[in-house]
Amino acid sequence: MFARSARGREAIEFVPHRRENEHLQVLAVTNFKGGSGKTTTSAHLAQYLALQGYRVLAVDLDPQASLSALLGVLPELNVGHNETLYAAIRYDEDRRPLGDVIRNTYFDGLDLVPGNLELMEFEHTTPKALADGSASDGGAIFFARIASALDDVAEDYDVVVIDCPPQLGFLTLSGLCAATSMIVTVHPQMLDVSSMSQFLLMTRDLLGVVRDAGGQLKFDFVRYLLTRYEPQDAPQTKVVALLRNLFDDHVLTNPMVKSAAISDAGLTKQTLYEIGPGNLTRSTYDRAMESLSAVNGEIEELMRAAWGRS
Ligand SMILES: Nc1ncnc2c1ncn2[C@@H]1O[C@H](COP(=O)(O)OP(=O)(O)OP(=O)(O)O)[C@@H](O)[C@H]1O
Ligand SMILES: [Mg+2]
Repeated sequence: MFARSARGREAIEFVPHRRENEHLQVLAVTNFKGGSGKTTTSAHLAQYLALQGYRVLAVDLDPQASLSALLGVLPELNVGHNETLYAAIRYDEDRRPLGDVIRNTYFDGLDLVPGNLELMEFEHTTPKALADGSASDGGAIFFARIASALDDVAEDYDVVVIDCPPQLGFLTLSGLCAATSMIVTVHPQMLDVSSMSQFLLMTRDLLGVVRDAGGQLKFDFVRYLLTRYEPQDAPQTKVVALLRNLFDDHVLTNPMVKSAAISDAGLTKQTLYEIGPGNLTRSTYDRAMESLSAVNGEIEELMRAAWGRS
């Protein structure tokens, strides 16, 4: 699957997967490296797409629930029992339709399936369900459960953005199986890159298991996104050159630059789209915004191309 050629060109290829709802794009933002910018990317992409007029559903797949917080839902305060994605993918009789746990955000056109610690249950109950044969209860085997939950609301959305947790567990695996495309966030430092290749190897192995069990996957596109990039930092520039050399056009042309505008906004659980130029110097804000628009615009183009093909 991965790294089939030395240059990594056809790096990722999977068995064709037929979805019930061809129009729905499901984008997973992933990498098991913590702090690689998954949540920041997911939140800004989801809001950007909503601003462009798409009907967007953001899904928080991380028990830490930073995406929920960034989109205005505090996991400890605002999310009660059985109100996360787990409600829609659990194996027992408490399962609820996904529509029941979707919330509006204060962004027009952007809804959210929030997360909280309860999502961890999926990691615990899946091995049990596999052992006692109930892993398909409610219709879908564990790796197809998120896709199957999304099918219920597919008519209401154009795009789903899934923010993955920084581990490759059952949740992530089920998220990747639901995805029609994948953005792998990479902070271009040597250590991050080595853990990324570990991620890819583990993903390959695990998805192989899924495939052996009859799961089918095909991504419209898989792209690496450089995050928190400092173009003036020589070692980072070298890593970026190496990545581009290895993965070629599988690396998005536009990197997300490191910016105090993003980290400052994050401190108050806000995105750049919400915070506005405010206290920042205009040039800091504009530079971050420019980088953000370029990245999100490039991803949007890939999605439009995928729609064009289907
Ligand atoms: N472009 C950027 N410029 C400056 N800071 C950034 C940028 N992108 C992300 N950050 C900061 O880096 C930190 C980690 O980002 P983020 O939470 O998005 O990573 P993550 O991959 O989701 O982490 P985790 O693996 O814990 O889920 C946050 O404090 C965030 O504000
Ligand atoms: Mg995160």
